[in-house]
Amino acid sequence: MKKVFITRDIPSIGIDLLKKKGFDVSVYKKDQPISKIELVKSVKNCDALISLLSDKIDKEIIDLMDRCKVIANYAVGFNNIDIEYAKSKGIIVTNTPDVLTDSTADLTIVLVLSCARKISESEKLVRDKKFVGWKPKLLLGMELRNKYFGILGAGRIGTEVAKRAHSFGCKIIYYSNSKNDFLETVLKAKKMSLNSILKKSDIISLHLPLNKKSKNLLSKEKLALLKPSSIFINTARGEIVDESYLIKMLKQNKIASAGFDVYQNEPNLNKEFYELKNVVLLPHIGSATMEARNNMSLLVAKNVIAILSGKQAITPV
Ligand code: GLV
Ligand code: GLV
Repeated sequence: MKKVFITRDIPSIGIDLLKKKGFDVSVYKKDQPISKIELVKSVKNCDALISLLSDKIDKEIIDLMDRCKVIANYAVGFNNIDIEYAKSKGIIVTNTPDVLTDSTADLTIVLVLSCARKISESEKLVRDKKFVGWKPKLLLGMELRNKYFGILGAGRIGTEVAKRAHSFGCKIIYYSNSKNDFLETVLKAKKMSLNSILKKSDIISLHLPLNKKSKNLLSKEKLALLKPSSIFINTARGEIVDESYLIKMLKQNKIASAGFDVYQNEPNLNKEFYELKNVVLLPHIGSATMEARNNMSLLVAKNVIAILSGKQAITPV
């Protein structure tokens, strides 16, 4: 019986499918990230590993995986895995694209609207019992119509965010390696240089994978190009931005507000985040819908089944 190890209890639909197909599935059951010691023990004799974005699958771990044919990451991002090294050892790495695109795009719009309409501050005011009645100038925000919406990374998620933003009346501008015909023809979007987008955008949203090229792409110098009235949204990865400089800008009102679903060093956030009033802070829930998580569970299972039965991976990275 081929062994599949899962580093955390994921929705049962994929686990059930693996069991039905005759695999010997074991799941790390504690409700916390698996420790390195446990991971080392568990990867040694598995034929497939299902990992989370919080599991660091580096050379040391991969060297222990003598029998393993596939690492199926339960995420679209795969910056937690040394994919070059895995490939050199003949291990196929897969991810979960598409199935979480709508959920992540929806959450991006949640953050945009929350920032534009000062939702965190508004809600806090009511909860603090400070709502003393309607006021002409209470918590004035910004409409989305006719605003420049800058998308960094026009892949699947970036495109879905653009569609949603366009329906709110935003003008879409985007930064990408390649032209996105859908954005250009259907949404009348314009491709621009990174500097131009940063200077022009009223709202800027990150939809790039984290890799060597995108790491710290938004350096101090780049962030300094943002307009003081702009809203910054990150549902991609914290390491793409110079986080401490962005915090400094928010403190000094050099940008209006920011919405975060991802951070550097999750879950140990830079303490200064908690002091900021002009931010919305979410706990990395981009793909956290029943629909997305069930489909992610099915997709990791189907990738494992395909590879362990000698077939092509469905979504290799
Ligand atoms: C979440 O961040 C993912 O990469 O799926
Ligand atoms: C991820 O799914 C992307 O292409 O944006």
